[in-house]
Amino acid sequence: MDYLEIEGGSPLCGEVRIQGSKNAVLPILCAALESPGVTVLENCPDISDVGAMLEILKGYGCRARREGSRLVLDAGSLHSGRAPEDYAGMMRSSIMLLGSLLARLGEAFLPYPGGCVIGKRPIDIHLQALRQLGAELKEEPEGLRAVCTHPRGARICLPFPSVGATENVVLLAARAEGVTVLQNAAREPEIVELCRFLNSMGARIEGAGTGTIRIRGVERLHETKYRIMPDRIVAGTYMLLAAAAGGKIVLKGAPLEQLMAVRQVLKQMGVRQESQGRELFLWCPGRSRGGLAVCTSPYPGFPTDLQSPLMAALCLAAGESVIEERIFESRFKIAEELARMGADIRIQGSRAEIRGVERLRGGRLKARELRGGAALCIAAAAAEGTSRIYQYHYIARGYENIIRDLKGLGVVVH
Ligand code: EPZ
Repeated sequence: MDYLEIEGGSPLCGEVRIQGSKNAVLPILCAALESPGVTVLENCPDISDVGAMLEILKGYGCRARREGSRLVLDAGSLHSGRAPEDYAGMMRSSIMLLGSLLARLGEAFLPYPGGCVIGKRPIDIHLQALRQLGAELKEEPEGLRAVCTHPRGARICLPFPSVGATENVVLLAARAEGVTVLQNAAREPEIVELCRFLNSMGARIEGAGTGTIRIRGVERLHETKYRIMPDRIVAGTYMLLAAAAGGKIVLKGAPLEQLMAVRQVLKQMGVRQESQGRELFLWCPGRSRGGLAVCTSPYPGFPTDLQSPLMAALCLAAGESVIEERIFESRFKIAEELARMGADIRIQGSRAEIRGVERLRGGRLKARELRGGAALCIAAAAAEGTSRIYQYHYIARGYENIIRDLKGLGVVVH
């Protein structure tokens, strides 16, 4: 069944425990290849992107098994091999295998990572940085051939704080000779998590979470056991659901310190919030307030991954709001589906103008990518009538079980 059905219009009432972070576990799975031993990862989300990554790792000889939310990996008999085309091509995060395979084996062949509807997603920043560490990269018709028998530390300044390029540099520099200083590095919490994981394997990385990361290469990395942090984007999705559908919810285990920009926007929308320890109580006593101007930007700014869920919530907020998407070049695709529900949205380049309406109408909707699909779930839960959201598989790439979570929050889902 590649659709889910939501009966909208009832205010929320319930709670949800936040799953492990997709964008933390994916680079960590690549990093696990850098140890010849066993790696145990706890709190891994059961999402299709993790399943795809595990298939790719197996293509290089890594053994992997899932025991509930625990993943057990053994990269003892890793070989350069070749990633299964159908998986590596569909998933952007396979590009992080470049850094880790070069660090462990000194060579790698990787099919080009897929682009997607949100943008072309070039890898020029990755390639330029890895070359500075001594990698030779050849772009062949079917993919990228990389060799780096002797990675050497370097001073690298990224032209843009790319999350993936930062991760690739850290992955290779962890095993390079000498020190690497990475400037204009991404500051996302997922970078901090990757560096913490690598340090638990014996790496020597400082400054993660700031714009300058210092990596002193080491001879080898050893096995480790690590617990993946909760997913801030999944948490933010359900927080924005509260603004759209109203009612009262509790988020359990959300990484509240990573959600300051989102909480600020929700406060402006009139959503009441109270945190007790790792629990966040949210309630939206009536129609949320619009009149906001929000720009997406690198962490700690408002995350681009919550731009579509925010758009869905602002469709019903009283007043006119503006969203500027400054990270990806075409991440407003979901506006067309929202307009079919009665939303009033005007797109001009990287700017979306949203005039809140009193109500949205449920209908047959189509997800086209992960976060846009989540945004449709928010709109459907707040709309009048029943909605069917087709191409549910896009949503399953990042949300472990959105049907379970929405039901737990009081949404009527089939
Ligand atoms: C990561 O993608 C996330 N994915 C994305 O989440 C997230 O939207 C993005 O970071 C920004 O926060 C994972 O972590 C698996 P970037 P990544 O490199 O690393 C351009 C989701 O929904 N760029 O920071 O690919 C690029 O085109 C996904 O969970 C280059 O031009 O993001 C984009 O416009 C979607 N050349 C901008 O930089 C490069 O070599 C940000 O990309 C690399 C990037």
